[in-house]
Amino acid sequence: MKKIDQRYYEPLEQMMAIRHNYMAKIIQNEFGISIYDFFLGKKVLDLGCGTGKFLHGYYELGSDCVGVDITNNFFVQNKEKFKLLNLDLNHFLKKNKLKFDVIFLFEFLEHLTQTQRKILFNNLRKMMNSNGVIFISTLNRNPISKFFSINIAENFLKLLPKDTHDPELFLKPSELENLAKKNNLGLKNTQGISYNPLLKSFRLSNIDLINYFATISN
Ligand SMILES: C[S@@+](CC[C@H](N)C(=O)[O-])C[C@H]1O[C@@H](n2cnc3c(N)ncnc32)[C@H](O)[C@@H]1O
Repeated sequence: MKKIDQRYYEPLEQMMAIRHNYMAKIIQNEFGISIYDFFLGKKVLDLGCGTGKFLHGYYELGSDCVGVDITNNFFVQNKEKFKLLNLDLNHFLKKNKLKFDVIFLFEFLEHLTQTQRKILFNNLRKMMNSNGVIFISTLNRNPISKFFSINIAENFLKLLPKDTHDPELFLKPSELENLAKKNNLGLKNTQGISYNPLLKSFRLSNIDLINYFATISN
């Protein structure tokens, strides 16, 4: 697949710090350890990994990392314990034999069709080691998220190239919970994300109407 406009990845890079903070909070609550201790020696899979920069941070914390993306926009070189695979999700799911402790699905589910999502969730449990955890961020589906992501982010602020999103593919937390339940997984937490366009920064929020994080475990 041809390279995506680099502008596409800029707001995603602004999200990296808040993702790390969200995971740190969940890990402290669920496992009682710091995020730095947690990622040491973990097997981490990042589906729809984009440039691979976010995943690389966890390689630097001592994890064994695999990233998968249909677009070859990779910014980081492969090395031992850090592999970026230029593959379509379905192709990866068919050929993968590895198991992971942590799976990242950041800003990814809203780019998949209902069928692709179903296939992904049918495969998640068998790709996870015991005590596995899936960290997600995605877009809620409602008129407000449609307005902000399309009218404001794409058309007015031009934070993202036009047609980045199809609002029909956005996912309500209740739908995510059902997808998880049907596949013997449990939705442990959701938390809203807010964006300040002046500071170009994201914060954790109690309002999950637009972007939100979720944690799923087996
Ligand atoms: C919004 S970006 C998120 C990138 C990264 N997770 C992040 O948050 O920085 C979505 C990514 O999913 C990838 N993608 C979309 N459909 C895919 C598919 N069927 N298989 C693999 N990757 C896919 C795109 O190429 C893109 O890099």
